[in-house]
Amino acid sequence: MSSLRNSGLQIQELQVEYKGGRLALGQMNLALPEHGIYTVIGPSGSGKSTLLRAIAGLLPGYEGELSFNGKSVHDKDTLIGLVPQNYGLLPWKTVRDNIRIAMKITNSAGTGKEEREAQITYWLTSMGIADLAARYPLSLSGGQQQRVAIARAFAIRPTIMLLDEPFSALDAITREALQQLFLDNWQAHPATTLFVTHDVEEAILLGQKIIMMAPAAQDAPIILDNTGVFGMKHTDKRDSNEYFEQAKAIRKVMQEKW
Ligand SMILES: Nc1ncnc2c1ncn2[C@@H]1O[C@H](COP(=O)(O)OP(=O)(O)OP(=O)(O)O)[C@@H](O)[C@H]1O
Ligand SMILES: [Mg+2]
Repeated sequence: MSSLRNSGLQIQELQVEYKGGRLALGQMNLALPEHGIYTVIGPSGSGKSTLLRAIAGLLPGYEGELSFNGKSVHDKDTLIGLVPQNYGLLPWKTVRDNIRIAMKITNSAGTGKEEREAQITYWLTSMGIADLAARYPLSLSGGQQQRVAIARAFAIRPTIMLLDEPFSALDAITREALQQLFLDNWQAHPATTLFVTHDVEEAILLGQKIIMMAPAAQDAPIILDNTGVFGMKHTDKRDSNEYFEQAKAIRKVMQEKW
């Protein structure tokens, strides 16, 4: 009954079957507080993208309840920003146009044209890609496209942000820089966030909790508290004892269950 219990993103008994009746996701229960950030890790095919698609409203159907602050997550008051696994950029539009279109569709940054353009510049600059504004997505590297997709996700000022392996296929140095950049931006504009990754290190660095999906869809995920590492200065995390212990705990689950 209490509003606290209903606040944030509530996932109750979520279950997804694709055509043919194959279970892609089952027994998914999760409470993600408003302005919180959890990472999702799991083997290929364990339903990570399916989970994000269900929340984003991209599936024809699912069983269970998805709510945000007591209302359906698909209520018009809840704007969801998704960075899909393949970036989801429009190839025939420039970087700037890609962001502008998303902002127009979602009615972000008020109605003023100048304000909107300033916002686009702000997010491109904050992701370190202001110089790419006039380029087309297919002329960019994978990492650059990922930055555009993230800039676009922030620019629409979503209530909920869903990121599907946004830093995959990046070299370690670029990835570290983008993780830091992402966290800085998220801290300044903390959308309620689910961040899917294949990478154990990334899951520990970026999430207050870590959702470990089970390989079999009928099994419930394991949820690890990670607030200890999360609360540290980003640069100190990797060398901390807490990080090491968390990595050990995750590897143990992976060895036993995956
Ligand atoms: N459009 C679809 N139609 C039918 N089955 C699907 C569809 N999309 C995904 N699946 C199946 O649902 C299950 C979960 O897939 P999903 O893409 O959610 O996994 P994932 O954890 O995101 O994997 P990856 O790490 O490879 O991205 C898999 O068994 C997959 O084959
Ligand atoms: Mg996936």
